Amino acid sequence: QATSIPADRVPDMSKRKTLNLLLLGALSLPTAGMLVPYGSFLVPPGSGSATGGTVAKDAVGNDVVAAEWLKTHGPGDRTLTQGLKGDPTYLVVESDRTLATFAINAVCTHLGCVVPFNTAEKKFICPCHGSQYNDQGRVVRGPAPLSLALAHCDVGLDDGKVLFVPWTETDFRTGDAPWWS
Ligand code: FES
Repeated sequence: QATSIPADRVPDMSKRKTLNLLLLGALSLPTAGMLVPYGSFLVPPGSGSATGGTVAKDAVGNDVVAAEWLKTHGPGDRTLTQGLKGDPTYLVVESDRTLATFAINAVCTHLGCVVPFNTAEKKFICPCHGSQYNDQGRVVRGPAPLSLALAHCDVGLDDGKVLFVPWTETDFRTGDAPWWS
């Protein structure tokens, strides 16, 4: 019969429609899918964690893992990392080779120079105007008016990364309220 569609063409039509739908899907799905990753890029990686801390970054911007850090930083070591709000912050290694639970903000309280640690003198000595701080960052010589700010230094339970948390309690070095919070 001339009017009927040959039986073998019916599956072809159906296949073609299916193919078109697949093509359409292939073109449109990635467009919709890309919106999600772009949205997540707006949150800077490493800016937070489940515990609310900020992951410490080393000199080249990698997350600091406590166990790895302690392999190369011995007792008494004070080395700069990137801390809260991007401030240069010293990680402190205690004499028993553990990380101290406090970290020291390296910004001089006089006029804001970054204060290096003098290992021989066991002091932070500011190169700008000579202020000095003891090895916990307590001011021992002016013109700096205040001790270096503190941050809590924790270790993430899941990944072992070093986390900074704002220090809002009494400054244990002076017994004073924290001037920086
Ligand atoms: Fe450190 Fe002046 S900025 S002593």
